[in-house]
Amino acid sequence: MKEIVVSGIRPTGKLHLGNYFGAFKHFLTLQEQYDSYFFIADYHSLTTHPNPADLKGSVQRVLAEYIALGLDPEKCTIYLQSDLPETAELYLFLNMNAYLGELERVTSFKDKVRSQPDNVNAGLLTYPVLMAADILIHRGVKVPVGKDQEQHLEMARTFGNRFNRLYHTEVFPEPQAFSVSKELVKIPGLTGGGKMSKSAGEADTIYLNDEADVLHKKIMRAVSDAGPTEAGQPKSQPVQNLFDLMQLVCSPEKIAFFDTEHAEGRIRYGDLKKQLATDMETFIAPLRDKINYQLENTSQLQEIAAFGAEKARKSARKTMNLVREAIGFKTN
Ligand code: ADP
Ligand code: TRP
Repeated sequence: MKEIVVSGIRPTGKLHLGNYFGAFKHFLTLQEQYDSYFFIADYHSLTTHPNPADLKGSVQRVLAEYIALGLDPEKCTIYLQSDLPETAELYLFLNMNAYLGELERVTSFKDKVRSQPDNVNAGLLTYPVLMAADILIHRGVKVPVGKDQEQHLEMARTFGNRFNRLYHTEVFPEPQAFSVSKELVKIPGLTGGGKMSKSAGEADTIYLNDEADVLHKKIMRAVSDAGPTEAGQPKSQPVQNLFDLMQLVCSPEKIAFFDTEHAEGRIRYGDLKKQLATDMETFIAPLRDKINYQLENTSQLQEIAAFGAEKARKSARKTMNLVREAIGFKTN
């Protein structure tokens, strides 16, 4: 039997180049090799009380992007978290053995208490319990997530083990964080800083459906430096960032050309940016077209979500029968 992979993304905006190379590309590999469940974490997004139209729009967008970028509903299971009410039932059961003290100590919760003191709701406190339910509902063992999610995963192990011990069962395996490649990639942004992130603003971020003119403008305005004054000067951070972005989309010959130009102290950043903009457009154009195409095909998206929900529910029902039986409830 193939190992079970589970991962979710909160519907909080458009996918950018960092999301693609840092996370999404791994999903594409995983769907070939594992029994994978990729869901859109729309229950989780309720902690910030989105209005219904916005929520619907964001969920549609993520789903369209999932499909456009190559997740295949035949190879993996793609579904909306809210189409799997079994998750909510498991969340309720797990909450009975999740203790206030341990939930209050979670870093992401403490951050939220600081950043949004007016909305410290119980959903926020029990966010890790819901995330544990997401994973345990399929008895997942591998969870492709970034470093920031490690503590949540540790809690998923705690809640699963606690349930097993309490009810003398082995229904839940221990889920582990999982990365496809050894080195974790970090895609830099356009404003000279560290990693590309939507919170760093429009100018920093290349979205996978940026229009050609927008893309061109953003890249031509990217932060560089005053240029080397003599041969052999090392690259500044913003210039290194531009070279790192070239690595993603430009041919080795072109990168080597600009490398030499820099090393010899005669580089023209305008030329480099033009090259980067051209090659980035070549990379983005088909993705943009596919995303826009999917966004217009809402009926197909609905079918895909319904198909995924059915597959996910099959797996969830199996788990919940074992869980209900262990607790002493009748099975369905
Ligand atoms: P953002 O930082 O823009 O808010 P998220 O936190 O929603 O992005 O990230 C979703 C996924 O994309 C995570 O798995 C994260 O590790 C990955 N990711 C985001 N930005 C980058 C980046 N610049 N480089 C590599 N991976 C990234
Ligand atoms: N908490 C994750 C994030 O913010 C999203 C998420 C929710 C998730 N449930 C999950 C990820 C289950 C993996 C498995 O990125």
